[in-house]
Amino acid sequence: MDLLVRNATLVTSKGRRVVDIAIDGAAFVAIAEPGQAALRGDDEIDASGLHALPGLIDGHVHFREPGLEHEETWLTGTRAAVMGGVTTVLEMPNTVPPTDTVERAQSKLALAALSAYCDFGIFGLVGESGESVAELARSGRLVGLKTFLGPTTGGLRAPDDDGLRRALTIGREYGLRVAFHAEDREIVERSEAALRATGRTDALAHLESRPAEAEAAAIDRAGRLLHETGAPGHILHLSSAAGLAAVERWRAAGVDLTCEVTPHHLLLDRDVYETAGGVARVNPPVRGEPDSSALRAALADGRIDCVATDHAPHLAEHKLRASIWEVPSGFCGVETMLPLLLTRGVQEGWLSLERLAEVTSEAVARIWELGPRKGRVEVGADADLTLIDLDRPGVIHAADLHGKNNLSPFEGVRTRGAAVATIVRGRCVMRAGRLALDPGWGRAVIR
Ligand code: NCD
Ligand code: ZN
Repeated sequence: MDLLVRNATLVTSKGRRVVDIAIDGAAFVAIAEPGQAALRGDDEIDASGLHALPGLIDGHVHFREPGLEHEETWLTGTRAAVMGGVTTVLEMPNTVPPTDTVERAQSKLALAALSAYCDFGIFGLVGESGESVAELARSGRLVGLKTFLGPTTGGLRAPDDDGLRRALTIGREYGLRVAFHAEDREIVERSEAALRATGRTDALAHLESRPAEAEAAAIDRAGRLLHETGAPGHILHLSSAAGLAAVERWRAAGVDLTCEVTPHHLLLDRDVYETAGGVARVNPPVRGEPDSSALRAALADGRIDCVATDHAPHLAEHKLRASIWEVPSGFCGVETMLPLLLTRGVQEGWLSLERLAEVTSEAVARIWELGPRKGRVEVGADADLTLIDLDRPGVIHAADLHGKNNLSPFEGVRTRGAAVATIVRGRCVMRAGRLALDPGWGRAVIR
């Protein structure tokens, strides 16, 4: 055995038990009662007092390479991921150029394989013309398709309804779920123009420019087209109770519709616009109460399927611009997800550790059909494991994070609980808060 993790409290959606976990090569080979003499590892980790989760999968990151390497790269983005206990990331297509042809998908995967610390999958773009979607889907290089129904970083537009119907039909045929950035373009553009005309430049004006109705309207559009085509869909970064209600209406009508929520939409309140200003600008915006408590309840009871970070870093000098209209939307998140969910979810009692394992790993693997090797701690599966210390104290500081641009609206937040080891396909990539392997171990997930 290459690696033996002893006395870990293994937590999955089904419960928890203390086990020894044996790893040989890249796979789990035994999960057994502790102390079985037959189990020996070349390397051993004593995990007494620690919890083991199925390796975290962040289903929504923007790692910016190719084209925007000043914001993030595969090396720095996956470095932040493994430092935060994440073993697989699914990366978004609004790079430069966007991931909208087979050649561009292949070259992004090749770039990632050069320097990734963790495993990865990529989304292909359904762009305004809808071109190349069939070839992309057929290529087998993607975990899903993505389209932007509203304006956001990259300025990429979705096709009209006919084009979307064609893309959804292709998605259905090739087993690719289509992810929607769900904000209605017309509502957002009209609201933003009206607010700008008043002379407002404060951070709260961004929230007002993107009302919950914009999200609900876009989800209704997506739901209607999914219903017509029978295709599977996914709502990215759900931010409002109204959006959640729209998701539920389309599910009740028979649509296969999954959805995700980010730590910032779950946990931040409106005062963040005073404390963090433009750093908190993100699409869709953080709305605070009562939306955030509705999202927490829905994550806990299963109406929301999973958590994803929407890790979307920008240069500090741009995030700190005076006028909110000049500030780009998005901020980092892949490294802070786990400590935040442990502190403000598990320790506060509304999120069980079992549900955390489900929403940060098992469900993500299920939604994107990452195959029998991801999102499960079972003999034969990829040995992806996140070891956590529930008592480990921390404070979120940009200077201590491992991405390229680390401004966060959670700056200064005290946390309790963090990853202390990140194991990717059998290799310990992070151990005791330090990188333990050279970059380049990460591989594309095989669906
Ligand atoms: C994302 C980005 O910067 O790439 N920004 C954001 O505010 N969420 C794009 C996106 O996912 O909308
Ligand atoms: Zn988005």
